[in-house]
Amino acid sequence: MSILHIDSSARLTDSNTRIIGQYLVNALNTKMLHRDLAVNPLPAISAQDLMGVHGSSDDQRDSLHSHLALSNQLIQELKDADTLIIGAAMYNFGIPASLKQWIDAICRAGVSFKYGEQGPEGLLNIKRAFIITASGGTPVGGDMDFVSGYLSLICNFIGVKEVLHIDASGSKGSPEQIIESGKQQVDSLLANEHNTETLGVS
Ligand SMILES: Cc1cc2nc3c(=O)[nH]c(=O)nc-3n(C[C@H](O)[C@H](O)[C@H](O)COP(=O)(O)O)c2cc1C
Repeated sequence: MSILHIDSSARLTDSNTRIIGQYLVNALNTKMLHRDLAVNPLPAISAQDLMGVHGSSDDQRDSLHSHLALSNQLIQELKDADTLIIGAAMYNFGIPASLKQWIDAICRAGVSFKYGEQGPEGLLNIKRAFIITASGGTPVGGDMDFVSGYLSLICNFIGVKEVLHIDASGSKGSPEQIIESGKQQVDSLLANEHNTETLGVS
């Protein structure tokens, strides 16, 4: 088992997504790559290079070359993982811009997804993703949450087999209560998984 753990909260301390994500990583206790998009944001990309990356252009200009190399590296990090963990802070009802940049870099036609006869097909073979969504008060899963559903869609789009959600919304009370609730959700997701494996159900 190997984890790719993505963090995107701009809060480097006292961040609910970071604390719950770390708890999950500790519980899984396996090989892990941590990519912190707030500490190390991806470089800004020009309109022309964005089009080039999206279409996997073979134009040799330097700027496109380096964005394509980075995109390939980010996709390789996903290919090397069977578990993806995304910590997503809700910013203005959506995901942090740094996380959107990462999504724009990893969604590539013919590389991470393709269009088949039945519509889009994910090309990455990731067993499961844990999405940790934190908000100040907007209910996760409600009409104004454009984070958790969107991240589910992206995970399914690139070929993640199962998406599991951890709700760290502010509506759950004080920071201590939010974190406690998040840890309980982690425990219960992992216990369910353990029971499923023990019973031989897939
Ligand atoms: C720029 C910014 C925008 C935010 N927008 C929202 C929002 O639309 N809805 C909401 O409920 N909380 C909003 N919040 C609050 C954060 O979602 C909340 O603090 C959450 O806990 C952040 O995740 P973290 O604890 O991992 O840092 C916003 C915070 C910031 C800094």
